[in-house]
Amino acid sequence: MKILAFESSCDETAVAVVEDGRKVLSDAIASQVDIHALYGGVVPEIASRKHVEVIAALTEQALREAGCTRKDIDAVAATYAPGLIGAVLVGLSFAKSMAFSLGVPLIPVHHIRGHIAANYLAFPDLEPPFLALAISGGNTLIIDVRDYTDMVILGATRDDAAGECFDKAARVLGLPYPGGAPMDKLAQQSAGGVYQLPHAQVSGAELDMSFSGLKTAVVNLGHHAKQVGEELDRAALARDFAQAVSDELVPRVMKAAQMTGRKTIVAAGGVAANSVIRADLERACVAQGCQLYLPPLRLCGDNGAMIGAQGYYEYLAGNTAGMELNAYATRDIAE
Ligand code: KG4
Repeated sequence: MKILAFESSCDETAVAVVEDGRKVLSDAIASQVDIHALYGGVVPEIASRKHVEVIAALTEQALREAGCTRKDIDAVAATYAPGLIGAVLVGLSFAKSMAFSLGVPLIPVHHIRGHIAANYLAFPDLEPPFLALAISGGNTLIIDVRDYTDMVILGATRDDAAGECFDKAARVLGLPYPGGAPMDKLAQQSAGGVYQLPHAQVSGAELDMSFSGLKTAVVNLGHHAKQVGEELDRAALARDFAQAVSDELVPRVMKAAQMTGRKTIVAAGGVAANSVIRADLERACVAQGCQLYLPPLRLCGDNGAMIGAQGYYEYLAGNTAGMELNAYATRDIAE
């Protein structure tokens, strides 16, 4: 079954053709990062307009690279939530018109379910159940993936997402948006151990997380250094910051594994590209006898193929939609 899949929830327009949920026939992406970098973050209205500009040509590219014509497409999948509402609407509306004109089913896909499904593309043997650590620019979740379309949130951030926190801390260090990857590069130049950063605990909810205090601590360090005319050890701060984020995430997902008895852990989302978090997950999984799946870097960030992968399993579960399907800025992964 060939699925034409659309992703447009933030600043990447992405269109892919995926066969039977596991085989990527094409994966076309148009990134808007350079434009948003001028503003230090994503400007939602600009994101929507850029999606409109490129989505038709990108669809042609995805079909061409897959060696397909429209007639070969069996279903259309699209991210319908969560994300910047105007941005999601562009991809979803285009997908609806495509499904309608081709007379094929329309499959709504939750963006975070898509991030998790990126692992099905990289690891043919991976099947639920497993625990997923989904860490991106807008979400930070520990999820019990009981089946392809049956998920329960075990822990979540109470405030900022891990990726958002990386982006804000990077700004303090004078790094460009999106700051996660350049922070990671800078952190590799230091062993850290210089800055004491806060570690949050949510009382009564040991799997929940908080990143706003950590973000504020870095902002305050930046302000203080400026006021007293001190130079920050930027590499050490980047390293200590990555460690502080990792210390929020990794012990909690390992605790969730103990609590649920799950022996397989899967990372997902843009922040899953982080080298400190990847190394800590590897060590912790070896120590606890868990099998770890880390998506290759190219599948960590937003892409269309992950939506095609999850779309296949949503289709098998009967989760298709009519033309009345709406887009949502927020939506529980379990819905
Ligand atoms: O999954 P993604 O591409 O988009 C969303 O769905 O949000 O994630 C983007 C986030 C950004 O905050 C970016 O700074 C972060 O992932 N990121 C990283 C790294 N690469 C990207 N964060 C830490 N370390 C990285 N190597």
